[in-house]
Amino acid sequence: MINKINALLAEITHLHAGNSEEIEALRIKYLGKKGEITQLMNDFRLVAPEEKRVIGKMLNELKEKARLQINLLKESFDNPDVAGDAPDLTRTAYPYRTGTRHPLSIVRKEICDIFARLGFSIAEGPEIEDDWHVFSSLNFAEDHPARDMQDTFFVKQGKDLLLRTHTSSVQTRVMEKTQPPIRIICPGRVYRNEAISYRAHCFFHQVEALYVDKNVSFADLQQALLFFAREMFGAGTEIRLRPSFFPFTEPSAEMDISCNLCGGKGCPFCKHTGWVEILGCGMVDPNVLENCGIDGKTYSGYALGMGIERIANLKYHVKDLRLFSENDIRFLREFESAT
Ligand code: DAH
Repeated sequence: MINKINALLAEITHLHAGNSEEIEALRIKYLGKKGEITQLMNDFRLVAPEEKRVIGKMLNELKEKARLQINLLKESFDNPDVAGDAPDLTRTAYPYRTGTRHPLSIVRKEICDIFARLGFSIAEGPEIEDDWHVFSSLNFAEDHPARDMQDTFFVKQGKDLLLRTHTSSVQTRVMEKTQPPIRIICPGRVYRNEAISYRAHCFFHQVEALYVDKNVSFADLQQALLFFAREMFGAGTEIRLRPSFFPFTEPSAEMDISCNLCGGKGCPFCKHTGWVEILGCGMVDPNVLENCGIDGKTYSGYALGMGIERIANLKYHVKDLRLFSENDIRFLREFESAT
């Protein structure tokens, strides 16, 4: 019996199989109902009592080893990296983490997706613009302070080339080329000559929306705003509109939402008012429509514009907006689950 056990032990340390059927055949050969090891186990009852302890231990070890060897063969087929002796040189040495979407990209996509559900399609325009598209066509007076060197980066002194200060310029670009109905959402980067601090940067991002058609009313604007606010900040969100002024809209308004931190009760974040400001909007001034070749008597429209950093700040409570452009990997990784 001992000889037989030792012979089998030697045999099973050198098992080879070319495919899974061969492995199964080996399992049946040794461990199947009539397998060699199973038979030895059956014969165990014939072993003399004084030998039972030693032989019993050897038998158990043999069985365990056979099981292990067969499992190893199986694994090598399930996992090709273990198969054969050659290591798989195409495998990476260390597990690696994939990147995450930038929080501003996450928020931009979310804004665009919400407006896409209202039938808006994306339009883009150049970052290097001219005075007409950024200011004049949008009804800015000749002496409007936004044209000032304080705010606008001019590409070359004396040349009509500047970095756009808002994405409203895309409105003009689209209206000049298209007759209504127009329903567009324009995300993009804008530039202003501001000192960099935790609350201002010389570049940031905006999304502009424009809807022009027959009979577009202020009520349509309000509906779109309420829909947007609730999709973005939750179903319980309330909005309020305050009268404001923008050269390109008449009437103009600024929209606040009920503070999404305290639910409108008042907290330090909303300066105890219960409201936080999120965007500017209004009915497109007929002058702007006419400037772009659209009949201001037949058509009307609404427009709105918001800062993506502002929305991201409200959603994720990022206080220092410099974080958005510093590419600190520890900050970016916080958005892994939001991607
Ligand atoms: N362009 C404005 C800004 O940069 C934002 C804005 C306000 C856009 C009102 C609009 C609007 O379309 O109607 O501050």
